[in-house]
Amino acid sequence: MRKDYIAATEPADHETKFVEKYWTTVWEREGGPQGHIDRIPNKDEYHAMAPYMGALPQNARILDGGCGLGDWTLFFARRGFSVVGLDLSHQTVKQLRTRFPEVEFVDGDIRQTNFPNSSFDAYFSWGVFEHFESGLQECVREAFRILKPGGQLFVTVPLDNLRHAFLGTFARPYPIESVLRFYQWRLTLAELARELAIGGFEVQKVHPIHKRQGVLRGLHHEFGLPYESLLTKALSVMLASFIPASFISHMAFAVARKPSHGADSKLKCNS
Ligand SMILES: C[S@@+](CC[C@H](N)C(=O)[O-])C[C@H]1O[C@@H](n2cnc3c(N)ncnc32)[C@H](O)[C@@H]1O
Repeated sequence: MRKDYIAATEPADHETKFVEKYWTTVWEREGGPQGHIDRIPNKDEYHAMAPYMGALPQNARILDGGCGLGDWTLFFARRGFSVVGLDLSHQTVKQLRTRFPEVEFVDGDIRQTNFPNSSFDAYFSWGVFEHFESGLQECVREAFRILKPGGQLFVTVPLDNLRHAFLGTFARPYPIESVLRFYQWRLTLAELARELAIGGFEVQKVHPIHKRQGVLRGLHHEFGLPYESLLTKALSVMLASFIPASFISHMAFAVARKPSHGADSKLKCNS
């Protein structure tokens, strides 16, 4: 697992406060919740999880852990599922509740929720489990607790792809004057699978996603090309067609299942 750092002006403690404030600022900058549910069917995560979601009964209860602007929560709510969006950003959740009172949004921490054991048939979480320096296990174990036996977990985390491994080998030390703090973990596919297995899950699938996003980031960080330029976008489409996914993809996607039988004893063995 590889650590990413971010420039910061705050002291290194108050990690939860830092994450909450950071994302509240990001969502404010984006203009708050807009309900862009039309964007969901084009997302890589959607294609990866669709076959499993299609098998769920219509009354299935689903958790969107770290729902951000709530687009995914709203998408599944409109499809008739009983879905809850949970996020650490108090302000964003308040705005979501005001704008979309018909959908359940909860202010909270995925590491310690107030949901009873075995509450959900499915739980998805995109780009959230990686934000705490102590690692992913608190998120994984809480997911295991609140899923029903046989329940499905869908997760993405930043991929420690071959580009990062290559750059890491030749990395220069951070300038001494920089004030940096932990931002996120990056995991290889095998590391993500291991984290889920340690938490008691049966891992069904792990693969790279967001290949073009990974190319865009490479072009921006290594060659200084602006994200929004037409040249960068055209180059990213072209390069993504032949660069291997494991070299460049931005995220790792996993599907895992809480075992139907003996789930609690397995968890004890691993703890
Ligand atoms: C990368 S954004 C992803 C947002 C959303 N899942 C999406 O795909 O659009 C991470 C989100 O997770 C939230 N978050 C981070 N740590 C969390 C935690 N421990 N509990 C709940 N939400 C958390 C942040 O506030 C932020 O909204």
